[in-house]
Amino acid sequence: MRLIIAKDYQDLSRKAANIIAAQVQLKPDCVLGLATGSSPVGTYQELIAKYQSGDLDFSKVTTVNLDEYVGLDKDHDQSYAYFMRTNLFDHVNIDQANCNIPNGMDPDAEKECARYDAVIASVGGADLQLLGLGPNGHIGFNEPAEEFVKNTNKVTLTDSTIEANARFFEKKEDVPTHAYTMGIGAIMTAKRVLLVASGANKAQAVKDCFFGPITPHAPGSILQLHSDFILVADEAALSLVKDQL
Ligand code: GLP
Repeated sequence: MRLIIAKDYQDLSRKAANIIAAQVQLKPDCVLGLATGSSPVGTYQELIAKYQSGDLDFSKVTTVNLDEYVGLDKDHDQSYAYFMRTNLFDHVNIDQANCNIPNGMDPDAEKECARYDAVIASVGGADLQLLGLGPNGHIGFNEPAEEFVKNTNKVTLTDSTIEANARFFEKKEDVPTHAYTMGIGAIMTAKRVLLVASGANKAQAVKDCFFGPITPHAPGSILQLHSDFILVADEAALSLVKDQL
């Protein structure tokens, strides 16, 4: 694991965007694995700025997103498809026909998960996978469990995740209870993994996942085994591991 320490969220966003920008510049037809949530928003803003200043060209980039809520249409304002369009895709010259995300409206979980794994395989996996980190250590929507799940799968969201994501919805009851998520297998086969963690509410998860044992109870901990894993974390997110840096 390579650790890049950022001062704060803005610094973290700039540092993470620089790594993604280098990937796109060095391999213009790369596959980017992308994440949602509040953590990568600043990173996406930095990438948009780089595109606007003429430093980045997304025209040949393909994307595979981590996850989607089951039951939310791609035009629902809390769907991850909508999030990606409004936070990144609509602002850069990416061909949205090459942007992949699980279809939360397919009620046939087995079929949709198999379809999504086939999509990931057909593009050859991600060159760079961007991740956030759930306060309980989840990556994508791979929640703490008894085992790591390899393939795209349908998960029942934990109460703590529903609670954490309720801030984006009018009320907690509106948060979907299930999601389709890329499995740990596809995340681990990405050539490079970049995780951004910001704020004191991520400090325990950062400690558990990256400074403790590898266990499915802290799903992000599996990344310790990845040969090219970069953690970009700000000082608040590292506050519980200060003495180990
Ligand atoms: C959601 C997403 C994850 C994300 C996590 C953390 O549950 N499925 O991909 O990493 O939330 O979100 P945030 O960055 O808003 O704290």
